[in-house]
Amino acid sequence: MDYLNSLFNLKGQVAVVIGGTGNLCGSMGIALAQAGAEVILVGRNPENAIEKLAAIDAFGGKSWFHKADVTRREDIDDLLTAALLRSEKVDILVNGAGMGSGTPFLEINDDEMARMMEINFNSVFHACQIFGDYFIKRNEPCSIINMGSMSGKMPVSGIFAYSAAKAAVLNLSKNLAREWAEHDIRVNTLVPGFFPTAHASLQGDESRALEILRHTPMSRFGTSDELNAATLMLASHRAGSFITGTEITIDGGFSAMTI
Ligand SMILES: NC(=O)c1ccc[n+]([C@@H]2O[C@H](COP(=O)([O-])OP(=O)(O)OC[C@H]3O[C@@H](n4cnc5c(N)ncnc54)[C@H](O)[C@@H]3O)[C@@H](O)[C@H]2O)c1
Repeated sequence: MDYLNSLFNLKGQVAVVIGGTGNLCGSMGIALAQAGAEVILVGRNPENAIEKLAAIDAFGGKSWFHKADVTRREDIDDLLTAALLRSEKVDILVNGAGMGSGTPFLEINDDEMARMMEINFNSVFHACQIFGDYFIKRNEPCSIINMGSMSGKMPVSGIFAYSAAKAAVLNLSKNLAREWAEHDIRVNTLVPGFFPTAHASLQGDESRALEILRHTPMSRFGTSDELNAATLMLASHRAGSFITGTEITIDGGFSAMTI
């Protein structure tokens, strides 16, 4: 157990989890706190943080909520300022705010395309710039985990704008990993497959849900805690010490399936 502890213990680390009020990143935030990190859950709605903060409190973990709309660059500036004021430092950044759209390709107008890029890509770009600048100046090992999507790697029907934005996230992570390796800042992407959540509800679309399951070797959807182990590995400067510029796909084998 000492060995596992030495690999995954995040005591003394501070993690900012953007989108931590949501399903997947909420679970990842709780996991980071369980490993000992102080966790700052970031989202637009404080009510969505209540359950997660209580869950962390219940096992004696430390966490707090910060309200931000990460499509606004100034909100991300304020987030860093607030984090430094209250938690004194940041070691881990999770970029997990995201939103999908199922508009058919020829009907996507410029406003919608801009909105999809704003939430799914620009927010990540801005957070990486703002926190990356801080991480470089801080000069300690740091980890950035960006939330990608399998649809950013291979075509998934009906989510064009979202997929393009997520493809850009994957590319950004790799670029920054190369750029910042010399500063001991690791940048990786988590690539979830299908996890039915508020964001990716398949309710009312039984035939699509069945199609996905038929294409998934494990014949099921993911559950919100199934990104946690990979999150801890990428977050930990010991477990993930040589892992940068890569992506971890967690999809029950969906992307390994051809016919
Ligand atoms: N659920 C899936 O199947 C799936 C698959 C691939 C990738 N992802 C990605 O994983 C991440 C989490 O997804 P989820 O399914 O848990 O969704 P979710 O809707 O439960 O969580 C997303 C969170 O982001 C927050 N958010 C949205 N816009 C924001 C903004 N402008 N400012 C601040 N916060 C904002 C939401 O309030 C919410 O708390 C997203 O980036 C999503 O694209 C999810």
